[in-house]
Amino acid sequence: MKEIKKLTNEVGAPVPDNENAITAGPRGPVVMQDVWLMEKMAHFNREVIPERRMHAKGWGAYGKLTVTQDISRYTKAKVLQKGKETELFLRFSTVAGERGAADCERDIRGVAVKFYTEEGNWDLVGNNTPTFFIRDVHNFSDLNRAVKRDPRTGRRSAQNNWDFWTLLPECFHQITVVMSDRGIPASFRNMHFFGEHTFSLYNAQNERVWCKFHFKTQQGIKNFSNEEAGKVNGMDREFHGKDLFDAIEQGDFPKWTMYIQVMTEEQAKNHYENPFDITKIWRQKEFPLIEVGVLELNRNPENYFAEVEQSAFTPAHVVPGIGFSPDKFLQGRLFSYGDAQRYRLGVNHNHIPVNRAKCEVNEYHRDGLMRTDGNYGGAPAYSPNSAGYWTAQPEVAEPPLDNEGAVWRYDPKDDPTDDCFRAGGDLWRVLTEDKKQILIDNTAGDIAPCTENIKYRHAAHCFLADPEYGERFAKAAGLDFEKVKALSKLSNKELIEATL
Ligand code: HEM
Repeated sequence: MKEIKKLTNEVGAPVPDNENAITAGPRGPVVMQDVWLMEKMAHFNREVIPERRMHAKGWGAYGKLTVTQDISRYTKAKVLQKGKETELFLRFSTVAGERGAADCERDIRGVAVKFYTEEGNWDLVGNNTPTFFIRDVHNFSDLNRAVKRDPRTGRRSAQNNWDFWTLLPECFHQITVVMSDRGIPASFRNMHFFGEHTFSLYNAQNERVWCKFHFKTQQGIKNFSNEEAGKVNGMDREFHGKDLFDAIEQGDFPKWTMYIQVMTEEQAKNHYENPFDITKIWRQKEFPLIEVGVLELNRNPENYFAEVEQSAFTPAHVVPGIGFSPDKFLQGRLFSYGDAQRYRLGVNHNHIPVNRAKCEVNEYHRDGLMRTDGNYGGAPAYSPNSAGYWTAQPEVAEPPLDNEGAVWRYDPKDDPTDDCFRAGGDLWRVLTEDKKQILIDNTAGDIAPCTENIKYRHAAHCFLADPEYGERFAKAAGLDFEKVKALSKLSNKELIEATL
């Protein structure tokens, strides 16, 4: 016979009845003395925690990174040494939708990976696109307000979305990617993902190179058209979550090949555009992909809330051999994630099992809400101390970084090497004819609810990227192409004034 497990209250005492409230008489009111009922209702009222401000809807799985190639000339990180296998947790997400949003929306997909390395956790918090919309931290909260709900109507607004995107020409390459066939992946398994930013690697001799991380799907790229996605969302709003879960349950473990691109400090100084600008591509012809290993997902979480919802990633978590770069967008992220998680999950969120490092953690942080371990017992609470406790390790310090120039608010648009349309134009030129048509149709459909001034602003950007791109979009959006050409001759400032 099946063993029946016993119900207890929150401190382990047996519960006599879980169906009938204690009442004063058979038809009388409930009494305060039904403490189990009070506990049950009070706990239920507190079960919802704040959702992530963006990337709220997501799915996760465990897996491993296996390094198959020797890249020790670039990095001393133990996680990246040939032959190393490291356990990881990965969370996929959409960006704009809330926790209850449908999976198959046109959006970029977040891909956050936590590598539990022997030198501490390394989090790579990336997306399924090689670049990002914007490049200054100031614009980030505004980007999210533009793509999320309108304050008046409470609805998503194409007008807000496209107004913001087109006022910042650096968004152009990312808009082109999102409006292309890749804007709605058929599954998480069928897309590449990227670290996007320029990071750094340094080797055992403390020699630094700049680097970008790429993960290419071994399942092949597959996407949904708007029509297919509409049907799928109508049938199953959790389609991508189910696809990932089912594949892993069936032992069909998805895999990605990991690559890096490397640029020396000298090359960076002489590069024809800012290599630390997240809206710019490092061309693979100039900086070829270097294979590193294989990332595999092979185990589903046991509990969605405990492991997926409570997971917390931050680009600030790096390990010796991997570092940051002067990318000012990355610098902003280094603050933002931990701050969000202290609010969303509490100051001790790194004690939650999915976030906890697998190696020893000795950081002198004490106390705080929900401290559930031994709080370091009687070990000294201050440093330096004479008890021999936890001293810093200077040998893991990053090599120093030369810097020059005055402290100032620099606008990248004032940099003569800045070209916001080169990458978008290059992408247009490599698309096959059918992909070009999909991009034009998706763009014209998405921007259709917007006012004409915004359509003209975008058309001028398309023209600047490639005249054919501009002409075809203008036609699809029903715009006067001669006017588009005239607008494209204006400076960015004049174009904005002409299209307000
Ligand atoms: C200055 C720019 C950015 C800021 C301030 C920012 C901030 C945030 C914040 C506060 C969260 C929620 C964190 C949480 O509650 O746990 C988040 C989530 C996320 N962000 Fe960003 N973000 C920025 C840019 C980016 C970029 C460029 C990428 C990709 C390269 C990215 C990828 C992600 C991902 C994947 C998540 C979800 C992580 C998860 O699955 O828990 N973000 N971001």
